[in-house]
Amino acid sequence: MMMSRSYIAGTGSYLPERRVTNEELAQSIDTSDEWIVSRTGINERRIAADGELTSDLAYKAAIRALEHAKTSADEIDLIVLATTTPDRTFPSTATRVQSMLNMKGGAAFDVQAVCSGFIYALSVADNFIRAGQAETVLVIGAETFSRILDWEDRTTCVLFGDGAGAVVLKKNKEFSHDDDPGKTRGILTTHLHSDGDHADLLYVDGGPSSTQTTGHVRMIGREVFRHAVINLAAVVDEALEANGYTRADIDWLVPHQANKRILDSTARKLDMPPERVVITVDRHANTSAASIPLALDEAVKDGRIKDDNLVLLEAMGGGLTWGAALVRW
Ligand code: UT7
Repeated sequence: MMMSRSYIAGTGSYLPERRVTNEELAQSIDTSDEWIVSRTGINERRIAADGELTSDLAYKAAIRALEHAKTSADEIDLIVLATTTPDRTFPSTATRVQSMLNMKGGAAFDVQAVCSGFIYALSVADNFIRAGQAETVLVIGAETFSRILDWEDRTTCVLFGDGAGAVVLKKNKEFSHDDDPGKTRGILTTHLHSDGDHADLLYVDGGPSSTQTTGHVRMIGREVFRHAVINLAAVVDEALEANGYTRADIDWLVPHQANKRILDSTARKLDMPPERVVITVDRHANTSAASIPLALDEAVKDGRIKDDNLVLLEAMGGGLTWGAALVRW
């Protein structure tokens, strides 16, 4: 009996050209390179140019992922785009990217789970393929978070950056019922969670229905940090248990990049040596839904992630939302 299984056929990413260092931020707000590096591990971030929109970043990342996967845009059945910073309230940024790619068929929609957005989008796409409703899905995480920052609030504006990453997810047509699911290339399982009772720890103080303004990011960082460490450890164990693996089986951890201290703490809990954790937060800061596909693309293209590796993706963000995906590369 044939079963459906999806696998990542290609990755791509794009960062805006403009680099903003901690020193540059310290010229306009009361902060310092020392504070930012010691509390977050961030050295610099990229900021989109005036007029450069989330869809522009998403499109460039998508083109690179399609090239890497040797796939043409007209083969795509579905675009699932994770973002908290859409070009417009509607239509979705995914449909804008569909048009930029000159796709004349298929479907496209956005997913909103803030920093967990890529894991949510990957899970949706994987389930479309498992259900037989799609064979080739473009999954994108893209953000221009700089547009929703209060640049006078030092507790948040130093933490985020802009960027985009994408993967091409395809149906593994070779996968059969007799194969060992854990050893066969593809997305093994995805795990999603949310807890709306903690919405006030990380949110935007605006929106079409509430204030008719876009609003700015507000965060009680210390509390979010506390929840992140607990929830990420739990969802990582859930993903491993679901597949009969132990922590020692993981080859690469590709986490959402919010704070180097959270990454170190998760790695310590997993007994993973730091060199097995893909880290980009130092150069990208927190790019929300874009951070995992940006980090994944870097580690795939520089040869760290190789065929057969067991790769664990995990994220936590506003909502609160959190999740993980275990991938046999
Ligand atoms: O991606 C979505 C999920 N987001 C996260 O996971 C973020 C989680 N939280 C964090 O990463 C950390 O909590 C932060 C990096 C946001 C903050 O680090 P912290 O060690 O928790 O610092 P804090 O918020 O407790 O602030 C400590 C001090 C405060 O001063 P007082 O009250 O002790 O006098 C802040 O006002 O640091 C001050 N502070 C700053 N000082 C210089 C806050 N921001 C800055 C700044 N520069 N940019």
